[in-house]
Amino acid sequence: MGTPQSNLDPFSAPFGSLFGDSMTMAVWADGAYSYPGHAVDLQPIPMHPGAHALHYASTCFEGLKAHRQADGTLAIFRLDDHVNRMLQSITKLRMSPPDAELLRTMIIDAVEANASFTPDPPGSLYIRPTFIGTLENIGAAAAPSDSGLLYVINSPVGDYFAGGIRPLNIYIETEIPRTTPQFGMIKSGANYAMALGPTLDAKRDHVADQVLFATGGDITETGASNFFLVDGDRLITRNLDSSFLHGVTRASVLTMAAELGYQVEERAVPLDELKAWAEHGEAFLSGTAAVVAPVGTIMVAGETLQLGDGQPGDNTLKLRQALVDVQLGVSADPYGWRTTVTG
Ligand code: COI
Repeated sequence: MGTPQSNLDPFSAPFGSLFGDSMTMAVWADGAYSYPGHAVDLQPIPMHPGAHALHYASTCFEGLKAHRQADGTLAIFRLDDHVNRMLQSITKLRMSPPDAELLRTMIIDAVEANASFTPDPPGSLYIRPTFIGTLENIGAAAAPSDSGLLYVINSPVGDYFAGGIRPLNIYIETEIPRTTPQFGMIKSGANYAMALGPTLDAKRDHVADQVLFATGGDITETGASNFFLVDGDRLITRNLDSSFLHGVTRASVLTMAAELGYQVEERAVPLDELKAWAEHGEAFLSGTAAVVAPVGTIMVAGETLQLGDGQPGDNTLKLRQALVDVQLGVSADPYGWRTTVTG
């Protein structure tokens, strides 16, 4: 651990497998968070084998990015939105979150310590705040952890989907749910663990890149990203509820699409609509890791629908560019989404 990895190419290594050599860490105990006020070396975390997180999944995380800007500075994208979502996840797991200001500071300190690991665009420094419940009690299945560890690590990243911007093949799962309805908006590893089996099966059986969960025909998300339909006039995505993740990139896309003149619709997206949509429209995925990723084909009920000519569509690419431009400081930041840090 601590081996400098800035010389490795984040576009060749698997997404998330390289790390900056520093981290920030705070201990939650006796009702208070203690943070030393600076980054430390990336290191193994102390954990009792009976820790609550290992047995009862009292853990959650965030995913955000710092981008090298057009003027050479470094900026974190939508820092406060991610901080707030993390506090919400910890609260929904029935533990006490830190003050927003503490997590915000820990994220900035970690990014500044790891700034030299930031690849140039289109690469970025992925930021992974993580919380784990550390209560040492293997009987506490029906009680929350009352102690924990909060830490922030960084990973120099390239594309989440190997092969860069390419049309993805999506398999629609209508029977197996991604998770339980009340848990889906928590950014917890448990949700990803539940989606793993169906995703691996769809990769093996249908050569799918991702599974889009649409329990009973109700399209929600893929597990790693939210889902959109777009054409020259309209942008459509599922309205928020507790069953799926409230993507920060999703919110950014909705804001920018409205600004670009699209009619924005947040509502149920019935499966039946997809077939008609595929004849003229486009589809894409969104997420911190996925950015805006075009969908080329959708496999639903034994049928393969091709979106347009199966290639990334103009509207998808336009929205992607608008997002990337604000992330990289190429365009103005009217909503205050960029937080400039030292580095
Ligand atoms: C993100 O987009 O930040 C996520 O957490 C998705 C994860 C599967 C990499």
